[in-house]
Amino acid sequence: MKFNAMTAVAALMLAVPGVASADPDDDNLVINGETEMITKAEVPAHMEDVAMDEIMSGWHFRSDETQALEMDDFDNPGMIFVDAGMDQWNAVEGSEGKSCATCHEGPESMTGVRAVYPKWDEEAGEVQTLAMQINDCRENNMGAEPYKYTGGQMANMEALISVQSRGMPVNVAIDGPAKETWEKGKELYYTRTGQLELSCANCHEDNYGNMIRADHLSQGQINGFPTYRLKNAKLNTVHARFKGCVRDTRAETYKPGSDAFVALELYVASRGNGLSVEGPSVRN
Ligand code: HEC
Ligand code: HEC
Repeated sequence: MKFNAMTAVAALMLAVPGVASADPDDDNLVINGETEMITKAEVPAHMEDVAMDEIMSGWHFRSDETQALEMDDFDNPGMIFVDAGMDQWNAVEGSEGKSCATCHEGPESMTGVRAVYPKWDEEAGEVQTLAMQINDCRENNMGAEPYKYTGGQMANMEALISVQSRGMPVNVAIDGPAKETWEKGKELYYTRTGQLELSCANCHEDNYGNMIRADHLSQGQINGFPTYRLKNAKLNTVHARFKGCVRDTRAETYKPGSDAFVALELYVASRGNGLSVEGPSVRN
């Protein structure tokens, strides 16, 4: 018997009385009472053929309590990791006796950076994620060990860099030399994997707004990364999240930092072009 993707999703759906389909809410996300975030935006032009009215941050799909944690930096548990990232920024490491601050001065010099990554790197001749760029600087500019791709120190540094762009719209380039990688990412997004034969799109495009197990399915956007999750009480990186979602389809997962996940990250980021950079966000 052929296992049909929609049957698989249906089987995972939890019949919650009254909230079989819980609409995302209409709340506004304003951080610290001053930074207004764009959490709903027009569907990017490259998604014209997708039956979707608007793109939405995962924030809209969370409970009021979880949402509130992101509205004030004193309540946002992710901000502690930004402080840790600041210590790393100033720490001299590696054979060259340098820190990030030696060459980049303060982290404010990174304003706007998070919004345009992953991006094509001319010298490397490939699309690079923010994590790859950070490790590139560590290895080649500092003579230091790379951070583990989805490790705590990487997440801290990504949070420090992301917060500099908070509120700015995501705007990754998908044309020119990045196009090939983007196409590959798009293909992966629609490829069914695992015993459940589910693609990212089966859950995050066809079923966002529905309940799956006890979870309210979002569009699977990455504008909020790195994300503090109440579930594991730490900052989570994009590739760690991808890995978890692929594992949920009972598939062998691609490796964090692999070409496949880099391509997928570019594609998923481009589905959020227009939403504010939110990192570090709070999710369950
Ligand atoms: C010896 C000097 C040097 C050090 C030390 C250094 N960098 Fe860099 N970094 C550069 C240069 C030069 C560039 C631009 C060229 C490139 O992309 O490699 C750059 C680019 C970057 C970018 C991309 C910015 C953009 O606009 O796309 C990021 C992010 C970054 N560095 C982060 C870091 C972090 C984090 C550290 C510390 C862990 C660090 N760098 C340490 C020299 C340095
Ligand atoms: C079986 C359904 C399912 C599939 C298939 C699936 N996910 Fe998810 N995903 C979830 C659930 C459930 C959550 C947690 C609730 C939410 O934010 O949607 C989630 C969360 C996410 C998040 C976090 C969103 C945020 O706002 O923090 C991202 C990013 C994501 N998924 C990406 C993907 C990608 C990329 C794929 C394909 C490789 C994928 N997912 C496949 C069910 C799925």
